[in-house]
Amino acid sequence: MTQTLAQASGSFAIGGELTVNRLGFGSMQLTGPGVWGEPKDRDEALRVLRRAVELGVNLIDTADAYGPVVAERLIREALHPYPDGMVIATKAGLTRQGPNRWTPVGRPAYLRQQCELSLRNLGLERIGLFQLHRIDPEVPLEDQIGELKALQDEGKIAHIGLSEVSVEELQAAERVAPISSVQNLYNLTNRKAEPLLEYCEEHGIGFIPWFPLATGKLSEPGGPAAAIAQRTGHTPSQLALAWLLERSPVMLPIPGTSSVAHLDENMAAAAIELSQEDFEELARAAS
Ligand SMILES: NC(=O)c1ccc[n+]([C@@H]2O[C@H](COP(=O)([O-])OP(=O)(O)OC[C@H]3O[C@@H](n4cnc5c(N)ncnc54)[C@H](OP(=O)(O)O)[C@@H]3O)[C@@H](O)[C@H]2O)c1
Repeated sequence: MTQTLAQASGSFAIGGELTVNRLGFGSMQLTGPGVWGEPKDRDEALRVLRRAVELGVNLIDTADAYGPVVAERLIREALHPYPDGMVIATKAGLTRQGPNRWTPVGRPAYLRQQCELSLRNLGLERIGLFQLHRIDPEVPLEDQIGELKALQDEGKIAHIGLSEVSVEELQAAERVAPISSVQNLYNLTNRKAEPLLEYCEEHGIGFIPWFPLATGKLSEPGGPAAAIAQRTGHTPSQLALAWLLERSPVMLPIPGTSSVAHLDENMAAAAIELSQEDFEELARAAS
């Protein structure tokens, strides 16, 4: 059987059990402006999702709050019934009050409700990876993670993930339930989450870097990737993804886009083999 492009990025077993190709897809860009409402071009959003699967993507990141509900329903419309091995990683714990407005709510009854709604909106009997979108500072962490553990024990979710956490918060959560992944802001130009990444590497926890492309800073004329991009013929976005994949075997980038052209460009990064010199030069130039 011929290898898909996504397979070229290598694989990782989430929770030691759910094996996915490391280069995945993030669905946040498939909604309206400010991650609110329907996309401008609905047909293209559906084409992006189907093309991602064609290229071998089997890790799709989403959230109840994207739209809200819009991204999850698009995923279902484009891809249900899901191909074997597809892992849809959704989230709960952020409520929406309008474009670009997000407020954490981590009360157990709310997290449970959102899990039930995601199961329905995605058309799943079990969610592969259910991530707490943000820790709600007004609710004891044990109660938030405890409810996710209960959902796991009931078979509604397979694995638990966290988002935007410190090492200490991850450790506190691990005292309540096994944590299979974290999702934090991390890219070539912003590596503040490095200690968390190192902890994940030591403990075999998947690290899902959001904003992996660092668009803007990375691709501006004369930006950190410009010289290597010119020499290698790759785009800055491709170099950003290849660098992340090279950085750690637990790294699971989920670049997002609303266009098939950008998706094709980004997925091609799965097959790039960065030389050690280029890896180090990119890290230096972007730091
Ligand atoms: N856990 C969290 O709190 C959190 C926060 C943010 C995001 N996320 C997740 O992480 C995923 C990725 O993060 P993100 O969407 O913020 O950042 P990203 O994937 O790094 O960047 C997306 C942006 O880059 C553009 N883009 C994509 N491919 C491109 C290319 N080849 N050339 C030029 N521009 C390109 C997209 O616009 P076009 O649509 O025009 O391509 C979009 O504006 C999201 O989809 C979501 O699933 C999670």
